[in-house]
Amino acid sequence: MKARPITTVRTIVAGVEEAGAGTKLFTLVDPDHWALPPFRPGAHIDLHLPNGLVRTYSLCNEPADNARYVIAVKREAEGRGGSRALHDDIEIGDVIGVSLPRGGLASGADIVRYVFVAGGIGVTPFLSMARHLVQTSDADFLLHLIVREEVPLAVRLAPLIDAGRVVVHRTSRTGRPDLASLVGEAGAQTMVACCGPETMIGDFERLTAAWPAANVHIERFVAPQPVIDPDAKPFTLLLARTGTEIQVRAGQTMLAALQEGGIEIATSCCGGICGACKVGWIEGKPAHRDRILSPYERERYLMVCVAGSDADRLVLDL
Ligand code: FES
Repeated sequence: MKARPITTVRTIVAGVEEAGAGTKLFTLVDPDHWALPPFRPGAHIDLHLPNGLVRTYSLCNEPADNARYVIAVKREAEGRGGSRALHDDIEIGDVIGVSLPRGGLASGADIVRYVFVAGGIGVTPFLSMARHLVQTSDADFLLHLIVREEVPLAVRLAPLIDAGRVVVHRTSRTGRPDLASLVGEAGAQTMVACCGPETMIGDFERLTAAWPAANVHIERFVAPQPVIDPDAKPFTLLLARTGTEIQVRAGQTMLAALQEGGIEIATSCCGGICGACKVGWIEGKPAHRDRILSPYERERYLMVCVAGSDADRLVLDL
């Protein structure tokens, strides 16, 4: 059976730099110094690490700088192992496969004001966005960075802090800031964005629930717990390109069923937040459970790691 191609780019680690607060910056370049695939500000890539782990990180350099991908990784001693592998094992000259960049901020032509809220290492995508806006836009922007005490990427953020573009809120000194007052009022020309711990993102989502969807952007690092639908029914997938039929059992993910059927699908988060497993759909009634596709994108695509079907049959563009 024909497998779905997985697109990765071979890169070499060209730099590893201590960036404070337990964080290292890794610079990845093309082995022959070609330009890397373009990306939107704050986009993310999957790293296919030499030990087999696949982990997603935000790019923190600006899109105009397409000779390299720069990621900031905080070592999480109790994490799932990706940050430990990068901190402890990866050196200059190592080869790492990366996915094509996904996500990031789509700049709206009408937006005149951006408000960013970041928690801790969640600042990484905003470093890229802030530099991009400084270089390409007249729009006003302000980044609220909420940290316990130490500022990650302090040296990189210093010019933006000095310019009044970044306000640091240290919870060890002043307690948690009021998110509602940081975000402010909804406005057609205002874009708000958040990246940080899941609790912060949850608060931000509730605060902005009534905002136009196009004016709210969220970057997630950790997939929420998968939703188990007790009423889920089995359904059939029809793969349009080959005519193959695949049965999805009740409670089984579409991804698992496709993999059982020998279809290779790129994955990373397996929780509907990274976009690695995006597949086109042609006919049916998908039950979208991802956290990244816009209503417009959902008319054409679904994430097979979390999506279900509200009809007996779903036709995929595979
Ligand atoms: S694997 Fe991340 S959205 Fe499906």
